[in-house]
Amino acid sequence: MSRTIIVSNRLPVKAVKNDQGELEYLPSEGGLATGLSSVYKKGNNLWVGWPGRYFKKKEKKQEARTALQSKNMSPVFLTQEEIILYYEGFSNETLWPNFHYFNQYALYKKSYWDAYKKVNKKFCDELLKVLSPGDKIWVHDYQLMLVPQLIRETHPDVSIGFFLHIPFPSFEVFRLLPWRRELLDGVLGADLIGFHTYDDMRHFLSAVSRICYISNHHGQIQKDRRTIATDSFPIGIDYDKYANQAAHPDTLSREVEYRTSLGKQKLMLSIDRLDYSKGIPARLEIFDIFLDKYPAYQGKVSLLMVVVPSRDQVEKYKHLKEEVDLLVGRINGKYGTVNWTPIHYFYRSFPMEDLSAFYRMADVAMVTPMRDGMNLVCKEFLASKLDQKGVLILSEMAGASKELSDALIVNPNDKHQVVEAIYRALTMPEEEQIKHTSIMQETLKKFNIHHWVDLFLGKLDDVTQKRNELATKVLDDSVKSMIKKDFDKAKKRMLFLDYDGTLVPFHSDPQAVSPNEKLLSILTELSNNKANQVVVISGRDRKTLENWLGHLPIDFIAEHGVWLKENENQWHMAEGLDNSWKGEIREILDIYVNKTPGSFIEEKDYSLVWHYRKVETGLGELRAREILSHLKYLAVNMNLQVLEGNKVVEIKNIEVNKGKAALKWVQQFKPDFILALGDDWTDEDTFKALPEDAYTIKVADIHSAAKYSLEDYVAVRKLLEGLY
Ligand code: UDP
Ligand code: G6P
Repeated sequence: MSRTIIVSNRLPVKAVKNDQGELEYLPSEGGLATGLSSVYKKGNNLWVGWPGRYFKKKEKKQEARTALQSKNMSPVFLTQEEIILYYEGFSNETLWPNFHYFNQYALYKKSYWDAYKKVNKKFCDELLKVLSPGDKIWVHDYQLMLVPQLIRETHPDVSIGFFLHIPFPSFEVFRLLPWRRELLDGVLGADLIGFHTYDDMRHFLSAVSRICYISNHHGQIQKDRRTIATDSFPIGIDYDKYANQAAHPDTLSREVEYRTSLGKQKLMLSIDRLDYSKGIPARLEIFDIFLDKYPAYQGKVSLLMVVVPSRDQVEKYKHLKEEVDLLVGRINGKYGTVNWTPIHYFYRSFPMEDLSAFYRMADVAMVTPMRDGMNLVCKEFLASKLDQKGVLILSEMAGASKELSDALIVNPNDKHQVVEAIYRALTMPEEEQIKHTSIMQETLKKFNIHHWVDLFLGKLDDVTQKRNELATKVLDDSVKSMIKKDFDKAKKRMLFLDYDGTLVPFHSDPQAVSPNEKLLSILTELSNNKANQVVVISGRDRKTLENWLGHLPIDFIAEHGVWLKENENQWHMAEGLDNSWKGEIREILDIYVNKTPGSFIEEKDYSLVWHYRKVETGLGELRAREILSHLKYLAVNMNLQVLEGNKVVEIKNIEVNKGKAALKWVQQFKPDFILALGDDWTDEDTFKALPEDAYTIKVADIHSAAKYSLEDYVAVRKLLEGLY
C-alpha cells in the first residue's frame, strides 16, 4: 500500500517535561495538528516534524526519537538559534503577519531568511532519510514553503502535495516580501497546491503571474516543463469525534459541574490561540459596548474566554497578552458584581472533554478573527450541538465563513454590527437556531476531515498519473542518433516544422521574429536536399510566411491549414471554407479592443485573432475569459471554434486544423521518414494525426501527445543542424 508522508513544522504531539522531569507527549494545539491528527494514523503513514521543544542532550533526543517513531513520527530537532530565527523569526514575525494582512508587524531580516532556508533544507533532508519508492509527500503550511522545490531537485518524479493552512494575501501585500520570488518557486516544486478558499488560490495565481510571469489555465501552471495544479479544498473536522465526545458521559458530568457554578445566566464562548489575527481585544471591546448598550444583560450573560498560549517568545504576542489581561481586568472591574463575573478568562489549554463541555454549554459562539485561514473552533462548536440549539457569530474574514453562510456573519471591524449580532443571537427563537445549526451541520458532516483528505490525495494521484501518462521522453543523445540513423536510411523524408516558439522565440511584436541568417541557412541546407520535403506548418498568415521564407523550396501549411503551398506551386486554399462570419465576430472583438489598451485584432484569411501579449497582466486574461464566454454559444451556431493560445484568442472555421492538413500531406506524398516539431496546443493535432512511426517532438513542455520533448528553439535548431 502506498504511504503518505506528512511534513509539517509541528508534529501532532509536543514533548513536555512533567513534574518528575520525564518526557511526556501531549496533543499540539492549532488547526493543522488537530485537523490531521486523526487521519495520519490510517495505514502506515508517517509524519515528519518538530516535537515543539529544544533538546540539549543527545540521550534525550534519542529517547524522544524512539518514543515518536513508535507513533509513526519522525522528529526534526531544532537548535535554539533555529527556533528563534526560523520559527519565531521568519515564520512568525515575517510570513505570519504578512499573510494575515498585519504587515505593519512584519520584520524583514536577512538572518531570519537565511535560517528559514537552512531549516527548510533540514526538513527536506530528514524527509529524504525516510522516503521510499512509491511514497507520496504532503507538505503543510507557511513554515515549509521551500521544501517542495528542495525535494523536487533530487527526486524529479516523486508526487508532492502542498497545502497552505493560512490565508494567501493579495499580490499587493505579498509583493512586500523581499523573498517573494524564492517563496513562490519553492512552493511550485509541488504537483498540487491546495488552499482553504478560492480567494486564497486566486491571490496565489495572481502572485505567480506577476512575480514569476507564469500565467495559468484553469488553475494549472506550466513551469520547468511540469504542470502544477492548484485548487481550493476547505478543511473539515472529524465530525463524529466531536459529536461523540459531546454525547460522552464524561463531557455531560463536566457540563453539570460547570453549569452549577455558573447558574442560569446565558453563556457566550470564545476559544482561540493567543494571536493578534484572532481579534481578541476587539471582541472584548465589543462585549464592553454590548453591556453598556444593553444593561438588561448585565448579570444575565457571561463570556467564557479561553486563550491558548502560543508563540509567547514573540514580541507582538507578549504585548497582546498584556493587552488582553488589562482589558479583561478593566471590564470585570467595571461591570462585575459579587454574584456575577462578566468574563471568565482562562489563559491555558484544555483537554477535549472540557472543550466539548464548553461547546455544549455555550448559547453563542463568538468567532470573530480579523483574519483566519479557516478556523476550526466554529466547526467544532456546531458539531457539538447535539440539540442544535445555539448561535454562531462568525467573522467574514475567516475562511469558514465561505461555507457557513447560515451563521450570523459579521465584519469584526464594524463593532456596532457585532454588538447587534450578539443581541440578535441572544434573542433568537429556538426554532430559528435549530434551523440554521442543522443546515450547517449537514455541510460539516459531508465535508469532514476524511472527505478533505480523500479529495486532496485523490487529486494528487490524478495529477501525478496524468503527468506520467503525458510525460514525453526528453530527447537525449541516444534518441538523436536513432533519428539520425533513420533519417540517413530514408529516401523520402517529410519534416513538419511549426514556426513561432519552435524555430524562433516568442516576441511581443509578432513581426519582430523574422528568420535570421542562422535559421535561413538551416532551412536552406535541409530543403536543398531533394530527398527532404520541408513543410512549415504554422498559424501565421501566408503573406508573412511567403515574405520570410517563400524564396526557399519548402512547402507551407499556413493559418493552421487554410492556405497551402506545395512543390513551389502557387498558394491555394483548402476547399469548402466559409468566410461570411467575420463581420459579426469582428464587431464583438472591436468592443474588447476598445476597452483593453495594448490589445489588437489580427485578421487572417479564415480566422480572426485577438492578441493581448502587451496588455497589463491579469487584465488580458480577464478579457480573454470574457471573450470566450461572450462567443460560447454564438460560435457553435456559426460553425466556428474559439481557441485560446499563447496570449491570443483565435476564432476560426471548425474545419481548419493542422492535424488534418498534415495528414493530407502524408497521404499525398507517402514519406518513409516523418519528423514533426511544435510547441503549442495546435501542434497537438499534428502529433495525434501522424502515423505511429513518425518522430513527434514537443518543444518547451513534456506533457504532450508527442513522443519526445526538447527544451527550446535553440535545441530545435541544433537537432536540425545535426541532420545534414
Ligand atoms: N484547541 C486545543 N486546545 C485548547 C483550545 C483549542 O487543542 O485548549 C484546538 C481547537 O479544538 C482547534 C484548534 O485548537 O481544533 C484551533 O484551530 P483553529 O483552526 O480554530 O485556529 P488556529 O489555532 O489553527 O489558528
Ligand atoms: C496555525 C498554523 C499551524 C500552526 C498552528 C499553531 O494553525 O496554520 O501551522 O501549527 O497555528 O501554531 P504554532 O506556532 O504553535 O505551531
